[in-house]
Amino acid sequence: MHVLITGVAGFIGANAAGQLLAQGHNVTGIDDLNDYYDPRLKNARLAELLEQEQFHFTKAKIQKPDVLNDVFKNNSIDAVIHLAAQAGVRYSIDNPRVFLENNLVGTFELLEAARNNPPKHMLLASTSSAYGASTAMPYRETQKADHQISFYAATKKATEAMAHSYAHIYQLPITMFRFFTVYGPWGRPDMAPMKFAKRILNGSPIDVYNFGEMKRDFTYVDDLVHALCLLLDKAPGKIPISTTFDSLSPVAPYRIINIGNNSPIELKDFITSLEEELGKEAIQNFMGMQPGDVPTTWADTRLLRALTGYSPTTELNVGVKLFVEWYLGYYRNAI
Ligand SMILES: NC(=O)c1ccc[n+]([C@@H]2O[C@H](COP(=O)([O-])OP(=O)(O)OC[C@H]3O[C@@H](n4cnc5c(N)ncnc54)[C@H](O)[C@@H]3O)[C@@H](O)[C@H]2O)c1
Repeated sequence: MHVLITGVAGFIGANAAGQLLAQGHNVTGIDDLNDYYDPRLKNARLAELLEQEQFHFTKAKIQKPDVLNDVFKNNSIDAVIHLAAQAGVRYSIDNPRVFLENNLVGTFELLEAARNNPPKHMLLASTSSAYGASTAMPYRETQKADHQISFYAATKKATEAMAHSYAHIYQLPITMFRFFTVYGPWGRPDMAPMKFAKRILNGSPIDVYNFGEMKRDFTYVDDLVHALCLLLDKAPGKIPISTTFDSLSPVAPYRIINIGNNSPIELKDFITSLEEELGKEAIQNFMGMQPGDVPTTWADTRLLRALTGYSPTTELNVGVKLFVEWYLGYYRNAI
């Protein structure tokens, strides 16, 4: 299969490309290598991928007209994994325009390019933040999610609506993923695991929001990528696999799927696990709730299991150990 991955130098993109290449697929990747966080990390992820013959890379912004059109025209793309986006709930408070341009215009250009050269399946990243102010747990793909509380989440929810309309009008099979706090090797420096690891090792305090009263459905990156790979050939059709929990649209080849761990972890337990692996105690700076944030996320994963026979399995202590091993190896010279 020839898979196009947007955001291929990112945390999830690079891990996904690695797993697909190992399975013998061809991967074409695109990324603008922007400096939202240290581009050296993006280049290091990319360097590993570029060693492989079946990998091809274009450095470009996806919202630039014709960039993706040319990629589709010049390659026979079977499936798309769309990960390029500006992420970060807190960053979206001060920089909404960056989200508008990358997430909305970027996704629009992808949908436009795909309608001219339709792939068999498009898999687009949304987020658990799309559930917004909803307190019904675990989050089900079929529940109402109309009250986003950050602009990041609002742009992701808007891409869900845009994708649905393209799926309907052009019969493009589209799966939207709602990812839940992904962690692991090659992680994102703006997310808690990497921010915390750096500060714990430096002896600087870590900011613990909502006085530590937070739960996240932490998902280990290999589990998430494994689920993505299994879903590649599960393009939505016309018939739901369950009348109670399939989110398949009644009018389009389109569905939303949670990829989470289905077991929310207390932030305190995550910090303890990190302290144990790093062999150092954290200095904790307890703070109130951040605007745009929610206290708990929890994925219902029945739909993922029904479609693939799989749901994430990596225990927190195992995932944190693997993350810390990578972190210490990668930043050996910087610590
Ligand atoms: N990591 C998580 O916990 C998480 C949770 C929910 C949703 N997501 C979503 O998953 C996707 C991937 O997230 P990630 O954690 O790998 O983030 P990331 O920032 O590491 O990866 C995104 C990549 O896309 C690239 N990019 C951004 N805008 C671009 C543009 N306009 N054109 C070309 N390239 C562009 C960036 O340079 C980066 O390498 C995102 O859509 C994100 O919103 C991630």
